Amino acid sequence: MLIRNCWYVAGWSYELEAGKPLQRMLLGEPVVLWRRSDGTVVAMEDRCVHRLAPLSHGRIEGDSIRCLYHGMRFEAGGRCAEIPGQDMIPPNACVRTYPVVEQNDWIWVWMGDIDRADPSRVAPSKALTDPAWVLKTGQLHYEAHYELINDNLLDLTHLSYVHAASFGADLSWSNTRAKVEAIPEGVRSSRWLVGSPPIPPLGKAAEHTTVDIWTTYDFVLPGVFLLYTALFPAGTAAACGGLPPSDDLPSLHSNFTSQAVTPTSGTTTTYYYSWGPAAQHGDEAMAQLMIDIATMAFNEDKVMIEAQQRVISADPSRRPVPTTADKAITLFTRLMRAQDKDPVERDAETKTIAAMEIAE
Ligand code: FES
Ligand SMILES: [Fe+2]
Repeated sequence: MLIRNCWYVAGWSYELEAGKPLQRMLLGEPVVLWRRSDGTVVAMEDRCVHRLAPLSHGRIEGDSIRCLYHGMRFEAGGRCAEIPGQDMIPPNACVRTYPVVEQNDWIWVWMGDIDRADPSRVAPSKALTDPAWVLKTGQLHYEAHYELINDNLLDLTHLSYVHAASFGADLSWSNTRAKVEAIPEGVRSSRWLVGSPPIPPLGKAAEHTTVDIWTTYDFVLPGVFLLYTALFPAGTAAACGGLPPSDDLPSLHSNFTSQAVTPTSGTTTTYYYSWGPAAQHGDEAMAQLMIDIATMAFNEDKVMIEAQQRVISADPSRRPVPTTADKAITLFTRLMRAQDKDPVERDAETKTIAAMEIAE
């Protein structure tokens, strides 16, 4: 099932250069992204109305794009402004356009009902230029349904098994249950991991064989993972009484990652991510090392998830047997599927989900 009424990440801002249209598949549909002369982004169906050639093979001319098959020119709003050799422009010679927002170095496209596109609902990811963090980026293509990647991020108990090599995660990740709570656009999952190996073993954290890790993430619509992690000397979790550390408690290391899961079709997905240390804990070299480790780890996920997809595709009638670690998945999936309901029904469903008592 693909959900239309959400803001999806269609790419990094730096991928979209002035004067160069960029094709992206979103929910199985070809979309062309391009910049107007003032730099603002246009998202339109990547299909010329004439003979259905891709406009991404076209040429940007100021605030319009020209199809380079037979030369029809379209304004940023989708209206055809010129048909070479013909004065009359049919009223239906219009290309569909999509609401688009450029925020925090991601280009977000709304594929749903235009009157429901509310830019305030774009997920609050971190900008690459945020002075509090040193962030590097990556992206991966998946031959898998997007829900399998969402499910992976909503259950970090897999770190103990999938990421023992890359992150060096021990069994505390699978043996410790997080506190999971509903938030307006998704779920929040937080916990202390007590006496864990430092992940990542960098900076001051590298001087400790075990640390206490405070890890908390918001997983918000339509699949945006915003994770903060801070490493403290062993004993800190007990000193905090198991409660979240105060903002001014000095840590050995802290980092932030923003990740976005975008269905490119019913069977393929693109995964965008940034990661890096807090500015007071690391520099560009550390950020590069971290993103290299993350890319290794995310390829471990990819191997498992694509193999999982092949097994599921072999017999889609088979149903999973949930565990207590799956509650965040159940809740988020329900919230996601509510997005394409009638707005009144959607709001009622959101309230019901928020009231559900959950614990991972
Ligand atoms: S296909 Fe675009 S002008 Fe003919
Ligand atoms: Fe993973």
